[in-house]
Amino acid sequence: MAVKIVNQILSKSFVSTSISDKGLLRHAVKALRFSYSPYSKFKVGAAVLQSNGAIILGANIENASYPLCLCAERTALAHAHMQSPSIKIQAIAIVCKSASQILSEPGYPCGACRQVISEFESKQKSPIKIIVGNVSMKNIQSFDSINFLLPYSFNGSFLKES
Ligand code: THU
Repeated sequence: MAVKIVNQILSKSFVSTSISDKGLLRHAVKALRFSYSPYSKFKVGAAVLQSNGAIILGANIENASYPLCLCAERTALAHAHMQSPSIKIQAIAIVCKSASQILSEPGYPCGACRQVISEFESKQKSPIKIIVGNVSMKNIQSFDSINFLLPYSFNGSFLKES
């Protein structure tokens, strides 16, 4: 049976040799087109940069049962993990676009996504840079690790058996 590699066919992954914060944010802007957000009409795009240069996109995917909505960051991180689970994540860029207002400030990751980024940092034992911006590409901010956005986090070290 022939197997289709769906992610590549839909161009949701790319390979880059070197990329700036702004360059990665531009990929997050591209991801906005994959947002399925008929309820909030608030699109979020994310682009994950892996250490092999792969750039993997994610977008928010909503559901009529609202709590089931998936955030862009988590779809991108899960997507990246599925592509190459042992490759480290260097950075994630996040962009928001509202249908009802022009956002002058960047959209920061929600608490649940911060916790998930923190899990990936613990898993790979190295920091993940978080880059936030908006479609205007002004007001770009970056954080060298999730520790700056989620200090005193809960993590797997609390669950180890003694
Ligand atoms: N959303 C994200 O995709 N990422 C975040 O960090 C915050 C919120 C999405 C979820 C929902 O589809 C929409 O934004 C409005 O909350």
